[in-house]
Amino acid sequence: MSTRRPSARRPAARRPVERSTPRPTLVERYRRFLPVTDATPALTLGEGFTPLVHARNLGRELGLDNLYLKVEGANPTGSFKDRGMVVAVSRALEAGARSIVCASTGNTSASAAAYGAAAGLEVVVVLPAGRIAKGKLLQALVAGARVVAVDGNFDAALRIVRELAERDDRPITLVNSVNPDRLEGQKTAAFEVCDDLGRAPDVLAIPVGNAGNISAYWAGFGDYLAAGLCSSRPRMYGFQAAGAAPIVLGHPVAEPDTVATAIRIGDPASWTKATAARDESDGLIEAVTDEEILAAYRDLARWEGIFCEPSSAASLAGVRKLVRSDRLGVDRDATIVCVLTGNGLKDPHTAEAQVGDVLGSEPTTEAVVAALGW
Ligand SMILES: Cc1ncc(COP(=O)(O)O)c(C=O)c1O
Repeated sequence: MSTRRPSARRPAARRPVERSTPRPTLVERYRRFLPVTDATPALTLGEGFTPLVHARNLGRELGLDNLYLKVEGANPTGSFKDRGMVVAVSRALEAGARSIVCASTGNTSASAAAYGAAAGLEVVVVLPAGRIAKGKLLQALVAGARVVAVDGNFDAALRIVRELAERDDRPITLVNSVNPDRLEGQKTAAFEVCDDLGRAPDVLAIPVGNAGNISAYWAGFGDYLAAGLCSSRPRMYGFQAAGAAPIVLGHPVAEPDTVATAIRIGDPASWTKATAARDESDGLIEAVTDEEILAAYRDLARWEGIFCEPSSAASLAGVRKLVRSDRLGVDRDATIVCVLTGNGLKDPHTAEAQVGDVLGSEPTTEAVVAALGW
């Protein structure tokens, strides 16, 4: 029988515990840098505040101690588009729009559909037929967007929605990244990277499609530098897919083709801004092959536990390529951030083609052990 007596000591005084303050919305957090006023309707699905993960395993492989992944697939609709969409849709509401319209390789439509639904707006999406990852198309349809698939590529779809937005018979706002409010919102990712690191990175590696995101990050780092919130800006390393690399080639690509459907774009709308970001930052924009993209895509999931879209993996594929060809351009202890723009669940088709079969077994432990080859 236990002879333990109740302790004679007085219970330790409880340290006062403070409840954490509620998390602000992304727009509240970075309000001073965004085109919003008290008249702008508040709208949020909880966007932003995405993880910056230290990629220790991939970093070890590449000899990079300070390799980080900005996991934008953690946004509400699974991609970075939500950062700009929340601003663009709020401003559309403020301007009295009743409808929003966009062309999309998938993620813009998923984001527009969700924010449009939350704002009570009609959402019209024009897509290149047969070129959209299944998950993204379903996101738009489930949220009630009216989706029109055209027999043409993204560039044709963008031309059509630009014309739709110019009609004066309906109050309609274009929410592609040519809408400046989108890029303003997307700047917030650069702010978060600086806030999490306590400084700007030395290199920011990013996939490039329509070239809005690289332009937005560059503007964001510029805002933070001007505000005295960081003391330098990173070199901007953009990566296009080899079959859809107009900026690398220096001319539009009529039939862009790559497994990375989100960056299958032949004539980027923000081309000039992207090359300015490259040149002003002493950076580069290069191409990576589909094989390099898919290898990075698999390794991100298997080594770091991060399942991103194929397009997203272009950032890591590019850094790897530079390391392996001894052209990284910065010291190995430099702080390098690879932006992973979207969530891998959006594109189950590509994932299926990359994995082995599920193991079959009788429903006994012995049979499962045998199936595992233990
Ligand atoms: C997952 C993903 N990554 C990268 C990009 C490219 O971004 P941007 O078109 O701003 O260059 C997109 C654009 O749709 C995207 O959806």
